[in-house]
Amino acid sequence: MKNVNVVLGLFYGDEGKGKIIDYLSKKHKYAVRFSGGNNAGHSIEVDGKKFAFHLIPSGILNKNVKAVLGNGVVIDPKVLIEEIDNLKANGYSVDNLYISDKAHIIFPYHIELDGMLEDIRKTRKIGTTKRGIGPAYCDKYERCGIRMEDFISNKFKELLKENVKNKNVILKAYGYEELDFNKIYKEYSKYAEILKPYVCDTITMLHQAIDSNEKILCEGAQATLLDIDFGSYPYVTSSSPSIGGLSTGTGIGARYIKDVIGVIKAYSSRVGEGPYVTELTDSTGDMIRELGHEYGTTTKRPRRCGWLDIVALNYAVKINGVTAIAMNHLDTIGKLDKIKLCVAYKYNGKETKFFNTNMDFLKNSTPVYEEFEGNFGDISKCKSFDELPKNAKKYVKRIEELTNCKVKYLGTGPSREDIIVNG
Ligand code: GDP
Ligand code: IMO
Ligand code: MG
Repeated sequence: MKNVNVVLGLFYGDEGKGKIIDYLSKKHKYAVRFSGGNNAGHSIEVDGKKFAFHLIPSGILNKNVKAVLGNGVVIDPKVLIEEIDNLKANGYSVDNLYISDKAHIIFPYHIELDGMLEDIRKTRKIGTTKRGIGPAYCDKYERCGIRMEDFISNKFKELLKENVKNKNVILKAYGYEELDFNKIYKEYSKYAEILKPYVCDTITMLHQAIDSNEKILCEGAQATLLDIDFGSYPYVTSSSPSIGGLSTGTGIGARYIKDVIGVIKAYSSRVGEGPYVTELTDSTGDMIRELGHEYGTTTKRPRRCGWLDIVALNYAVKINGVTAIAMNHLDTIGKLDKIKLCVAYKYNGKETKFFNTNMDFLKNSTPVYEEFEGNFGDISKCKSFDELPKNAKKYVKRIEELTNCKVKYLGTGPSREDIIVNG
């Protein structure tokens, strides 16, 4: 039985995954984060209350859902404990939180190194979130990372001592302040005690769920164009936020996957450095930023904004095997008089519909647009596709035509209820 569904981002992040995951998780028994760390920021609005999750799975607000942090996630214990405390303070139980014993831990030296590496990069500054994500994944692959099962065991002290010693050599070499092992150990062993009750073998847990025909929703963080392999390298994150990351980050095999819901906005945005073919650096871009409140959930940085890009979207649809699209911010784009949709790129005098993450290609491609009428009016009361104004329908139908994919969910506002299920 295929009981595993997936929600993941198709562009450069912040597509509104959190809202869609919260909405869909109520029909699932498990909500599982499979990659990234607290570089993510997922906003959810419920009964007028706003939540911003960085680590905790966005499905947690549904109390019948078991919220799982999979083995592919990198965990900053301090941030996770803050999120747990915040949920408790808002009257939510976290008894339904489970943390993989194989997830890696982010330590202060990762955060320090993230900042240092960004400082010393001369030509290719990435604009990371400075949350220690890249260095934590480097340690995982270098095989000196500390996993949750070691963090909560009596091996922790020795492992940490060796790592702090080795990282201090690097920090010193670049003229950065060395870190104090005793201070970190004292602080982090307290965090280990707090998190210990949540740690378990999530791989076996999910395998048992599959055997019991229970429904699992896997939730992506970041997005396809930030993927370490398929994104605009080197301006990417250090994990696999696209479909491949689901299996390596949870232990769930591909044969159990049913629906792959790819999330986009009716326009696009990007935070941090890197090429962005449909970026608008003019007053229209500023207007989209203000209308869509496009400021980072994690770093508060203003997001770069632009038109929706079908060339990039079709690439992401193929990479992930997307079965349906969820498109947020239909309300926002409908406030503009005219809307543009990028249907091809012009590169070296030739038109192409195929995306490629080659830097020269992305930096020198110019978008070819189709234009649509905006002014949708107030669509907040529309509860079905048929109730939408004709300009909105025309825009959505053209996207379906160009991607050969159903736009099954349409976002008409930031709240849990602001979703139209199309068909
Ligand atoms: P995520 O990282 O993909 O979960 O997205 P973020 O939460 O970082 O950014 C999405 C932003 O858009 C948040 O502020 C959401 O509250 C907001 N949002 C999501 N869907 C809609 C929508 O359909 N309309 C409007 N106006 N806002 C939305
Ligand atoms: P959600 O899950 C948008 C971007 C950073 C930077 C690059 C590398 O909210 O969609 P990192 O700290 O990961 O090494 O930074 O990736 N980035 C995101 N941009 N949304 C995110 O997550 C992001 N997570 C990382 O801005 O350009
Ligand atoms: Mg976000």
